Amino acid sequence: MQKRTLGKSGLEVSALGLGCMGLSFGLGPATEKGEAIKLIRAAVERGVTFFDTAEVYGPFVNEEVVGEALAPFRKDVVIATKFGFEPDAGNDGKWTATNSQPEHIKQVVEDSLKRLRTDTIDLLYQHRVDPNTPIEETAGAVKDLIQAGKVKHFGLSEAGAKTIRRAHAVQPVTALQSEYSLFWREPEESVMPTLQELGIGFVPFSPLGKGFLTGKIDSSTKFDSTDFRAIVPRFSEDNRKANQALVDVIAKFADQKQATPAQIALAWLLAKAPWIVPIPGTTKLSRLEENLGGAAIDLTADDLHSLEEASSEIKVEGERYPATHAKLIDR
Ligand SMILES: NC(=O)c1ccc[n+]([C@@H]2O[C@H](COP(=O)([O-])OP(=O)(O)OC[C@H]3O[C@@H](n4cnc5c(N)ncnc54)[C@H](OP(=O)(O)O)[C@@H]3O)[C@@H](O)[C@H]2O)c1
Repeated sequence: MQKRTLGKSGLEVSALGLGCMGLSFGLGPATEKGEAIKLIRAAVERGVTFFDTAEVYGPFVNEEVVGEALAPFRKDVVIATKFGFEPDAGNDGKWTATNSQPEHIKQVVEDSLKRLRTDTIDLLYQHRVDPNTPIEETAGAVKDLIQAGKVKHFGLSEAGAKTIRRAHAVQPVTALQSEYSLFWREPEESVMPTLQELGIGFVPFSPLGKGFLTGKIDSSTKFDSTDFRAIVPRFSEDNRKANQALVDVIAKFADQKQATPAQIALAWLLAKAPWIVPIPGTTKLSRLEENLGGAAIDLTADDLHSLEEASSEIKVEGERYPATHAKLIDR
């Protein structure tokens, strides 16, 4: 698989990474640990060198799975994890409260290092901007961790352009990880121009629209109670019915290219800029292989134009987060 570089400090990763969250958390029941480890190692064998996890995925369990799976290949892979949440007493102890206080970050990193079975985190993201901690303090704490050799690169997630600039002035940011796909193009407005100007890489999460863009979800799909999509407005039955038109556009285009809709969704992201590295997630080997095939599809400027022209005629219905989660998005 081709490589791409994130940020000016030159973090080299495979053009597609693997989002490991869904193996333990957020999209239905967790995959049995041995199977999850096999899937992650299958990705390594197929050239993936970039793996995404977070303290909050589980919590903790996903980092443990990723750490165990990658331990034999540690020097050949890049591990990204995230800090920034803690249990919220006002929300039944769910991990929805933000905390990016320096002391908290330093403790989380010590714990993540143990779970990940490593002595340095390649890329450490703040998971959500913490309204109670100035971003300069957070960036300063990560700078200390980089100086101490415990972290190599700094990242942000779902941060707005102003926050990115403020953080970058204290500790250069290597990558921003935010939602971006044909299902959600808002980052094109102010975030992506800022990334380009500052030389920061972009790691789109949910690059398959949480599975919707693959065409394997429709209005009859039932989501498990442990599946976040069960409470996401965009995934209500009515909105799935309305949003099917977008999937139909992608599927038609995929047919012309003799590719699958998932591959086109990923190839579109890769064609948008050379500093973009999507991290699709899957629990299945066949889908992993299918998705990696997306990196071999080169879309031309004309391809992008026709796909974007057809897809932008469709208004996507429904918010991408329920209100409890939407309030954590930095603007
Ligand atoms: N920073 C953040 O706040 C944030 C938020 C969300 C996610 N993330 C990261 O981004 C990664 C990816 O995002 P995501 O998991 O939300 O969404 P995604 O990658 O867009 O989609 C994952 C979903 O698509 C399905 N899928 C994958 N490949 C498929 C294919 N070829 N055909 C049909 N279905 C397919 C998967 O189901 P199967 O498992 O059944 O294949 C899974 O339900 C996560 O693993 C996580 O690391 C970060």
